[in-house]
Amino acid sequence: MSSSYKKPGFDAKYFEQLVNSLPALESKTIAITGTTSGMGFIAAETCARLGAKVILLNRPSKRSDNSFDRLKKNVSNAQFHKVNCDLQSFDSVRGSITAINELCPDGLNVLCNNAGIMAFRDEPTIDGYDVQMQTNHLSHFLLTKLLLPKIEQAAEKHGEARVVNHSSVARHQQKKLKGEYLEKRGGSLGGDGASMFFSGARWVRYSQTKLANATFTACLHEKFQKSNPKLKAMVAHPGLAESDLQSSTVKDGGMGSFFTRYLMKLGQSEKDGCLGLLRCIADPKINSGVIVGPGLRGLKGKAKAFSLEKYYDNDYTKALLWTKSCEAISDEFNI
Ligand SMILES: NC(=O)c1ccc[n+]([C@@H]2O[C@H](COP(=O)([O-])OP(=O)(O)OC[C@H]3O[C@@H](n4cnc5c(N)ncnc54)[C@H](OP(=O)(O)O)[C@@H]3O)[C@@H](O)[C@H]2O)c1
Repeated sequence: MSSSYKKPGFDAKYFEQLVNSLPALESKTIAITGTTSGMGFIAAETCARLGAKVILLNRPSKRSDNSFDRLKKNVSNAQFHKVNCDLQSFDSVRGSITAINELCPDGLNVLCNNAGIMAFRDEPTIDGYDVQMQTNHLSHFLLTKLLLPKIEQAAEKHGEARVVNHSSVARHQQKKLKGEYLEKRGGSLGGDGASMFFSGARWVRYSQTKLANATFTACLHEKFQKSNPKLKAMVAHPGLAESDLQSSTVKDGGMGSFFTRYLMKLGQSEKDGCLGLLRCIADPKINSGVIVGPGLRGLKGKAKAFSLEKYYDNDYTKALLWTKSCEAISDEFNI
């Protein structure tokens, strides 16, 4: 993947300070989706540096192989394990579970649902869902359901365990989650329109997915509080961060290269973009039921914790998300 939109080449301003404040993660097992580049890569590398066993959940590719080699080179003596998990396929997610379970004999301390794609074409996955919604939310919903026994096991042993989701300022764009985007309607959800400043159907679909990530967190937080408060759910947003996300969107036709080059000057390094994710994964001061990022709408800066927002943390939206997501995975998810 070209990294031409990393042109601003920002320095990380706050990253080292945050990492130095985090506790050692020895004896913790952390699974992260989408670690071939961007914030998933930084999160995997940092968790390993802090001593965690890190399970890398990626679809099989050269990028996956190369990033695995880079991680092993960057952190000597680290415990990295890769498991194939293509979020565009429910069968692939289901097929990854045995291997993940075998890697977590003492439970899974953190499941970090990070992977994502942005403003891609209106195309169905093999399961018939919107490619963005299945990658960014529905497969993470399934993964969380299937790994919950291991997450509960870690919570029992260590006093807590976490599910971390990754949203975006794009969650604000729509404000109202709509059921149709979670239904089997991939390829008929508005077409391939995209114009400058994030309008058009591609961006509506992306915004719906990032609203789904935040709503899923609100649902999990509510259910965990009632059933087992040792389980925690939090969501990060990175502001605007250099990563491969913009390059893949430009390649797919979702943004123009000129606009993207201009836009990225407003952002921050991928390391600083990872602050919220790392606080959610490892910071003991971060509690369940928060969104962590550079302000609620900020594009850069230190990551702080805020209450979940009422436009998705409400009974109607949570019930809609849960019902539609269970329908999509053809299963119940009882907590
Ligand atoms: N960068 C930003 O400014 C920004 C802003 C707001 C939110 N975010 C969110 O941050 C998260 C991480 O993105 P990033 O910016 O770090 O972008 P990135 O560098 O493009 O990383 C995205 C990761 O997701 C993986 N992925 C995509 N499709 C997948 C699939 N079907 N199965 C498994 N993995 C898949 C990619 O792997 P492959 O190599 O297989 O493609 C890659 O490892 C996303 O959820 C994104 O929405 C980013």
